[in-house]
Order: sequence, then C-alpha cells, then structure tokens
Amino acid sequence: MHPINRTKAQARRYYDRLSHNYDLLTRSEAGLIQQGAQILSVQPDEDLLEIGCGTGRALQAFAETVPGKGLRVGLDLSLQMLTYIQTKNITPTPILIQGDGACLPLQATRFDAIFMAFTLELFSVADIHRVLQECHRVLRPAGRIGVVALSSTPRTFALQLYELARRLFPVAVDCRPIPLAALLAENGFGRVHDEKEHNWGLPIHLTVSVIRQPEDIATKP
Ligand SMILES: C[S@@+](CC[C@H](N)C(=O)[O-])C[C@H]1O[C@@H](n2cnc3c(N)ncnc32)[C@H](O)[C@@H]1O
Repeated sequence: MHPINRTKAQARRYYDRLSHNYDLLTRSEAGLIQQGAQILSVQPDEDLLEIGCGTGRALQAFAETVPGKGLRVGLDLSLQMLTYIQTKNITPTPILIQGDGACLPLQATRFDAIFMAFTLELFSVADIHRVLQECHRVLRPAGRIGVVALSSTPRTFALQLYELARRLFPVAVDCRPIPLAALLAENGFGRVHDEKEHNWGLPIHLTVSVIRQPEDIATKP
C-alpha cells in the first residue's frame, strides 16, 4: 500500500474546502454508495454508524430506505462536511460527530452496523488497522461492517493511470487502492457478501463482513 503523505489536519482542511462541491465532483460514486448501503441490509430498529460520512449521501439513503427508531450516527473529520449535511434536512435527523475514525469517541458494543465508503483508503496502514479495531470495539457481538473502497485488484489500465496521477498530485488524488479483503480478515472480520464494480474503469470493492467468533477463527484460517 502506498504511504499517506499528509497530516490529519491537512486532510480536514482539504475536505472542509471541498464540502460544497463534493457531491458534484464525485457524482459517479453516488450509485456505488447506494449499492453499498443497500447490501448492508440495515433494519429500521438497528443502530448504525457511518465513518467518513462526508456530505451524508449514505445517511440520506439509509433515512429514505430504512427510516425507523434505530440510532443513525455520522462521524467525519471535517466540520464543514458535517455542516453541509445539515443543509440537506435528512429525516430522521442523524447525530453528527466531528472525530477521527481511528479513535472513535463512542462507547463499546453500541452499534449493529457500520458503513464506510471511500474513506478507509485515506488512512495510513497503521491507522487502517486502528479503524477496523475500533469498529470491532463499538460493534455488538454479531455486528457487521459494510465497506465500499477502491480496490488494488484487478490492476486495470485505469488503476495504473490513477496511481500515476496520485504520485503526481497526492493532495488532489487522495484515495489509494487497498487490499480490502485481507485487511478485513486480519482484523477479525469474516466476509459474508462481496461485489466488484467499476467506476471510470477503476475497480471498486463492496463488502459486508461480520465479526468472526472465536470458534470460526479456530476452524477457518
Ligand atoms: C472521499 S470522502 C468520502 C465521503 C463519503 N463517504 C462519500 O463517499 O460520499 C472521505 C471522507 O472521510 C473523511 N475523513 C478523512 N479522514 C478522516 C478521519 N481520520 N476520520 C474520519 N473521517 C475522515 C473526510 O473528511 C471525507 O468526508
């Protein structure tokens, strides 16, 4: 995995500046976010956390498709992204928290499901493990996590071009492809659903995983 060349303060400022144009600039990702949210199969009474909720596109999809009594929490590093969500008047209103996905200011075993789209790719390798361990901590025992991410395989021509662009413009092209399946497995998540899609020729991995129980870990490598 390529290193991350900016601090979290720089990332926060970058997304603060992008907040008002973000939906327009990343319009091609909207369908993938909806698809990822749909395969997580959140139930109306389930408590859901989204890490890196950005402009709230997934939170809006959850509110429209599974309104209910369950807690809906969006966490993001960028205050401007969270402020922008409020202009969308999502109902029922989600709780919005400014914070770092690698150090969740949330109590243990609080959520049934966690969702992340185009966010895990932004963390350093050490922080990706921290984020997934934090997900483990705040999820209930049978909790599940849905992740939509730029995948490091297959190495399409578009992906190779993208990586070149990322080397040249590391600030503007900030998501980097990650081996999502291996990262989830290393952090105690067993995948139950996998889909592969493309966005402008870039491989996108959509997954749903559940916390592996000790007996699963003993029987399945
Ligand atoms: C590429 S955007 C994706 C936003 C949203 N998930 C979507 O797909 O529309 C990444 C989001 O992650 C947030 N982010 C970046 N670093 C973060 C961190 N350390 N903790 C929490 N959120 C972070 C950014 O502010 C931004 O809103």
